[in-house]
Amino acid sequence: MYIISGAASNTISEDLSKILKIPIAKTISKRFPDKEFYFRIIDDVKDKEVIIVQTTYPDPNLVELFLMQNAAEESGAKRITVVIPYYGYARQDTKFQDGEAISAKGIAGLISLNADLVITIDPHKEHILDFFSTSAKSCTAVPEIASYLKQKNIDMILAPDKGALDRARLASEIMGCEFDYMEKTRIDGNTVEMKPKKLAAENKTVAIIDDIISTGGTMALAIKELKKHGAKKVFVACTHGLFAVDAIKKLSAAGCDEIISTDTIENKYSKVKTAGCIAKLIKK
Ligand code: R5P
Repeated sequence: MYIISGAASNTISEDLSKILKIPIAKTISKRFPDKEFYFRIIDDVKDKEVIIVQTTYPDPNLVELFLMQNAAEESGAKRITVVIPYYGYARQDTKFQDGEAISAKGIAGLISLNADLVITIDPHKEHILDFFSTSAKSCTAVPEIASYLKQKNIDMILAPDKGALDRARLASEIMGCEFDYMEKTRIDGNTVEMKPKKLAAENKTVAIIDDIISTGGTMALAIKELKKHGAKKVFVACTHGLFAVDAIKKLSAAGCDEIISTDTIENKYSKVKTAGCIAKLIKK
């Protein structure tokens, strides 16, 4: 077996290689002067199983993944497992308006062309897995996030909305602390009020958990509300830290005490490793 490491997921590939004791294949990748991608597998993967690891965000990483899969197929790999630590495009998982692309489905179809198994972490919604026409499985990084948060004396885990409730509940169970969620109330056409359901944040250290932080808007609103309700410290934690535009500024301005994300998208907030949960799934 070989692991084929994509440039977007080198850390996870190296960690997986150590945990599973599978070598990383020698490869060559480069960009032509016009920026087109080139990929070649040097090791002989004919009749071997390969595990390709590549996050599909931002877009150039997606093209890299397609070519890595193609190279494995063309080299005669017996079985191709594709690990996508962060599956981009997952939030457009339905047609919200006529004529729209169902991006999560369209991209899944293309990835499925050269894959025997797809593994991803904390997909935005589980039903996205059904869009792959090959086997697809997911694991969650919440236990890893919870074990990082354990050292932070957290009193309460908060879900920023009902959609994040299951993740928050799981983290609170692992950490042995209480959990709550933000309730949204529409005041009028333009105003949405958000407050912690139980209104019991006073003097507490709270960690807000979500799958994705993109613009930071959701988290910033939740932080401000918690601080308004007397929270002592507020941490934000997510599996996939996209931190688009000025997200970090927004979180700091809202009064965030620490930003935590995993390594599915590598950045300076990647404090939690995810290779362990992927390895468990592969071993199954
Ligand atoms: C939404 O359903 C997701 O779970 C996240 O809450 C959302 O993607 C966060 O986006 P943003 O950081 O832009 O508010």
